[in-house]
Amino acid sequence: RTVFFNGQFIPEGEAKVSIFDRGYLFADAVYEVVSVLDRKLIDFAGHMGRLARSLAEMSMPPTYHDEQWLELLRALIDRNNLNEGLIYLQISRGNPGDRSFYWPSAETAPTILAFTQNMALLDNPAASAGLSVVTLPDLRWGRADIKTTQLLYASMMKMEAKAAGADDAWLERDGLITEGTSQNAHIVNSEGVLLSHQLDRNILHGITRAAMLSLAGGMNIRYEQRAFTVAEAETAREAFVTSASTFVMPVTSINGKAIGGGKPGPVAGELRRAYIDWAM
Ligand code: PDD
Repeated sequence: RTVFFNGQFIPEGEAKVSIFDRGYLFADAVYEVVSVLDRKLIDFAGHMGRLARSLAEMSMPPTYHDEQWLELLRALIDRNNLNEGLIYLQISRGNPGDRSFYWPSAETAPTILAFTQNMALLDNPAASAGLSVVTLPDLRWGRADIKTTQLLYASMMKMEAKAAGADDAWLERDGLITEGTSQNAHIVNSEGVLLSHQLDRNILHGITRAAMLSLAGGMNIRYEQRAFTVAEAETAREAFVTSASTFVMPVTSINGKAIGGGKPGPVAGELRRAYIDWAM
């Protein structure tokens, strides 16, 4: 692969990061994952908006303008012949030349990288089979709304879910589902209302979630932005997740209990189709 690294397009093996880089020592870095369909970046503006917010929340200066990002990510897609898959981009606070908890002065240049991942996003078998999830405690820090590379807990919970025989985990805080390990979580409750956790510091403000809710509004699907309990999830008519890498993906089992008779539900199916139509 050709990757983008600190202003240059270079072979992946030539990109080297200092051991003092704060991304490496402190997870002091923010990132975005943008999906690519037919060589086109999906919801680019949405991802750039969140990137700017993450940087601001971390008191990191802006890097490139959106137009510059667009140009360089398109160049990366071309160089790697990426038809369908993901673009990962990351900005760390950089290499201050030593380890210190305190942020370095503004002169320390950020480390900026982007790479492509080839992936079949449309033709995902989970779209027809549905995912199984188990609920596990949400013990992440209180700023899940900032998209940092501090992903160890998500990684641990994915492993725990896998060990329990499930595809993934939904995280629970004070009896309420916050979100998935790397997706936003949604249900259609027993009254037929789509429930999605409100935007606060306990969840990542998903770009796919926002597009999905806007499409749901246009399709006259009733929705409320509020947290739901584990019990509400287990007895829901439908459940699904959203993320850049899964789009809208049905969940058909929660804690071993079949959701919607163990089959992907109609609302999730319609929203998946609507999202893909809108994205293409
Ligand atoms: N994850 N919640 C969490 C904790 C996430 O990590 C993600 C995305 C989402 C969905 O956000 P969006 O719709 O903007 O992708 C929700 C990405 C895909 C990842 O880390 O690979």
